[in-house]
Amino acid sequence: MTHSLSVIILAAGKGTRMKSSKPKVLQTLAAKPLLTHVLDTCAQLETDKTIVVYGFGGNQVQAAMTDYALTWVEQTEQLGTGHAVKVTLDELPQDGESLILYGDVPLVSETTLTQLVTANTSGMSMLTLTVDNPFGLGRIKRDDANNIVAIVEQKDANEAEQAINEINSGIYCVDNALLHKYLPKLSNDNAQGEYYLTDIVKMAVADGIKIAAIEPEDEFEIEGVNNRQQLANLERRWQAKLVEDLQVQGVQFADPARVDIRGQVEAGQDVFVDTNVVFQGHCQIGNNVTIESGCIIKDSVIGDNTHLKPYCVLDEAKLGNQVTVGPFAHLRPKTELANNSKIGNFVETKKSQIGEGSKVNHLSYIGDAQVGKQVNIGAGTITCNYDGVNKSQTTIGDEAFIGSNSSLVAPVTIGKTATVGAGSVITKDVDDHALGVARGKQVQKDNYKRPTKNK
Ligand code: UD1
Ligand code: CA
Repeated sequence: MTHSLSVIILAAGKGTRMKSSKPKVLQTLAAKPLLTHVLDTCAQLETDKTIVVYGFGGNQVQAAMTDYALTWVEQTEQLGTGHAVKVTLDELPQDGESLILYGDVPLVSETTLTQLVTANTSGMSMLTLTVDNPFGLGRIKRDDANNIVAIVEQKDANEAEQAINEINSGIYCVDNALLHKYLPKLSNDNAQGEYYLTDIVKMAVADGIKIAAIEPEDEFEIEGVNNRQQLANLERRWQAKLVEDLQVQGVQFADPARVDIRGQVEAGQDVFVDTNVVFQGHCQIGNNVTIESGCIIKDSVIGDNTHLKPYCVLDEAKLGNQVTVGPFAHLRPKTELANNSKIGNFVETKKSQIGEGSKVNHLSYIGDAQVGKQVNIGAGTITCNYDGVNKSQTTIGDEAFIGSNSSLVAPVTIGKTATVGAGSVITKDVDDHALGVARGKQVQKDNYKRPTKNK
């Protein structure tokens, strides 16, 4: 039997309390839209169809999600969660089952969803949690045999029901046949005048269906975002979890509360991360790496024993082993630093390869360059790679020495073990083993009298 799993994501809410021109599901957590978190988690499951129910700001939401294959269904009026799922019925397969998720509940995990699907053996499973303060949430009613019999919303609950601590997360896995059967029958005869999705529980129980319930591993998995405070709170808890996962793997953080992982970090052992470091995108870090304060590292690979001094910015850079960078270096996309190379303070690199053991220690711009092994590039050296129209390449051979304050006007090649005199503007190739100097000759006027001011 082929098994079909669909996903229905409710994302029609406006998010008034965010006080934003952006639809709520496009607000970001760990630099990624809330809805994208849900879609990326679903992408790890084997799903056949993902339906997103949109309302407010639909065009904006759709434009931001073009990387995903989605079926969009508009809910023009927000008449309740049951109504939101009902409007998907034309698009929902008759057989198989569906996960019902929310665009503003971003952190539900793949593990939890897999367990929820596995738990759905009789038609319906749901994610519940026993909490200290259940106020505002739907309560799970169970009978004497501990079977779920109904969900009661806060506003409809009597005193005894309000005392129940097991709450409804709103996340379910339901057979599509049951959704097709029950949703058209929902009524809005309740305290909020809404079509409650939760009412399908009673209908299923009346049909003799035994509803399975599981709990998530982390409470934050079922938490939604309605305002900026909740968003910031969820961000902190997510960061704490990411940091904890890395600590377990042997990474030391100077202060777990002062680091941000906006993406995914893989790291070896004995990595030290000082305060206020930000990781973005996908970063891979080897063993024994030291990352000092204030570094911002995006989509980069860092080899073993490498040391980033304070305030370096790395973007799509690839660093070998025993490399030293910074302080205050900017490694832009396609920078590749070979083993034992060194980039010093106030150096910018872009689309350049720096060979093994080579040094660019101070105040330089190295762009579109191929630098060999054991090269020394003096302070203030600039590769002039751009003439206003074209980008050109600079090639520097092994063991070359570039004197300070030189301009290498590309395209240009400096040979192996060649030397460039300090202060040169090099416009022609310098051969292997040769010295190239291109600067004004020094003149001297003896006993020179400086101008004096008229009194
Ligand atoms: C719902 C559950 C409640 C549960 C809680 C968990 C119902 C009736 N109640 O209550 O048992 O404890 O979630 O957070 O389901 N939405 C739409 N269209 C609508 C209505 C809602 O897309 O017409 C979306 C909203 O954007 C929101 C989500 O569904 O993301 C939840 O809706 P909301 O009205 O906030 O449900 P709760 O009152 O929190
Ligand atoms: Ca509501």
